[in-house]
Amino acid sequence: MRVKIIGSAAGGGLPQWNCNYRLSRAARSGMLGVHSRTQSCVTASADGTGWVLFNASPDIRQQIAQTPELQPALDGPLRSTPIRAVVLTNADIDHVAGLLSLRERQPFAIYGTAQVLATLEANAIFNVLDPAIVPRRLLAPTEELPIRDAEDGETGIVVDSFPVPGKVALYLEQGRDPGADFSSDTGHTIGVRITEAGSRGGVFYIPGCARIDVALRARLTHAACLLFDGTVYTDDEMIAARVGQKTGARMGHIAMSGEAGSIAGLADVKIGRRIFVHINNTNPVLDENSTERAAVKAAGWEVASDGMEIQF
Ligand code: MLT
Ligand code: MN
Repeated sequence: MRVKIIGSAAGGGLPQWNCNYRLSRAARSGMLGVHSRTQSCVTASADGTGWVLFNASPDIRQQIAQTPELQPALDGPLRSTPIRAVVLTNADIDHVAGLLSLRERQPFAIYGTAQVLATLEANAIFNVLDPAIVPRRLLAPTEELPIRDAEDGETGIVVDSFPVPGKVALYLEQGRDPGADFSSDTGHTIGVRITEAGSRGGVFYIPGCARIDVALRARLTHAACLLFDGTVYTDDEMIAARVGQKTGARMGHIAMSGEAGSIAGLADVKIGRRIFVHINNTNPVLDENSTERAAVKAAGWEVASDGMEIQF
């Protein structure tokens, strides 16, 4: 199996279009040690030919252009794609807006939880992907769901999905008291274990997670590889950077650092390789020469970059 991180940034990417914070400026100016990153997406293939996307970011067009494996085969039909399916881990804009760029009556399958499918259903713009051509399938919390393409052919990729502590999508907060509790542990946000048929190994992909609880620690014990929510380094980072008013917790994202952070929360859990993904443009670890990057590395974590590949 091959797994490629084709978008390692959180919503907005690095640089973010309207952001003048030091990290976006550094990426724009090509500063050494601060690399541009596109928005949250991972792709996996069992046979190196057909690929399953995990989330479809607004940068999907650029990501396909940067990833030859995702482009039409040179000897392929006039209109074709190696992308067989898209598995959605929530309905956030950085995870679903790219679906709109995958129109053109091209068959592939979409998998999402009941909540995520209901959100697509409620937003008529997604009908540009005619369900007769692009079937939408329920991703029920289960062991080992084989991901199939639009014609029901097996991709060879198998997924275990499980709800994680998270939050409803930002745009679903509309009209509700901004101080209200938008947290949701029931399927608005999920994690997945990506593997091949008959394998117990694989990669856990959890780009959004508000807390590390007992159930998650148990599930991740002995994982070969974890791609985990690396949105913020400190909970109040966006406030301190003066680019926003929300904490990581309010956005449904656990911080890397601190007693309640992910580094501490998973420190004693046996995991082969741990890699932060979905990194926000305020997170100091984006600077390879920062003390925070050194601290993350010393704690045994890697920081994903676009194009990073994990092979099994
Ligand atoms: C998130 O990860 O919290 C969302 O992508 C935020 C957003 O929709 O901008
Ligand atoms: Mn996001």
